[in-house]
Amino acid sequence: MQDEKFKPGEGLHLAIIMDGNGRWAKRRGLPRTAGHREGAKAVRRTVEAAADCGIETLSLYAFSSDNWQRPPEEVATLMQLFERYLGTEAARCVKHGVRLNVIGRRDRLRPRLVRAIEKAEAATAQGSALHLRLAVDYSSRHAIAAAASMFRPPGAVTAEMFSELLNRAVNSDPAAPDVDLLIRTSGEQRLSDFLLWECAYAELVFTPCLWPDFGKQQVEEALHVFQQRERRFGALPDAEQVASEGLEAVGP
Ligand code: IPE
Ligand code: IPE
Ligand code: MG
Repeated sequence: MQDEKFKPGEGLHLAIIMDGNGRWAKRRGLPRTAGHREGAKAVRRTVEAAADCGIETLSLYAFSSDNWQRPPEEVATLMQLFERYLGTEAARCVKHGVRLNVIGRRDRLRPRLVRAIEKAEAATAQGSALHLRLAVDYSSRHAIAAAASMFRPPGAVTAEMFSELLNRAVNSDPAAPDVDLLIRTSGEQRLSDFLLWECAYAELVFTPCLWPDFGKQQVEEALHVFQQRERRFGALPDAEQVASEGLEAVGP
């Protein structure tokens, strides 16, 4: 029998590409912005589910740097929703021990939104149950280039050092570990410039569920799939690794 305290996502970094708001609305004959509003409710459900499942870091892709190409009215609605979300959710986050952090560029956000981000981050800074990273004006390629430009040559750069700089480049506070599990909703199977470096060994789960329909059940299903996966990180599966013990190791 499963232990009552068993938390299927204990200590994991879960990243989600929240896709399908527009299609959700279109199917109902509604404007795309209605899909985004409904999507905000799914964010709340998912954050609560992640905390319940013991997830340590949750990175949600809310607005990519390429999303600035969308019509100005849609962009304006999304920015309003972020601001409102930060205002209403900060107190909930404090209550549930969630540390809220917005990752991505801030230099192109309007000052009011930047102030709302800083306020929410300061208010939730003591949260230790879940590190929630909301990606806004985020581009992984831009982040990688920004991290690379932080180096003052010469010097040998390790992957660990680079990861640290990458976290700094996107304002991740605290720094987040590599992604364990990445979910993308709406049936699309691509990364769309999200956490390219951090997903080096992430397990990928693609679900047809549109983002506004996403919630606790879908989080649990994805964690179940994750638990069935065998992560190898380039080595042999555990059993075979043990069987070959005693053989002389060959470099590096
Ligand atoms: C995801 O839903 C939200 C954002 C990218 C901001 P979409 O708006 O991309 O919805 P679809 O893909 O058009 O259905
Ligand atoms: C990726 O979704 C960005 C977010 C979910 C915030 P898009 O809908 O913008 O990605 P593409 O254009 O289908 O690749
Ligand atoms: Mg989309």
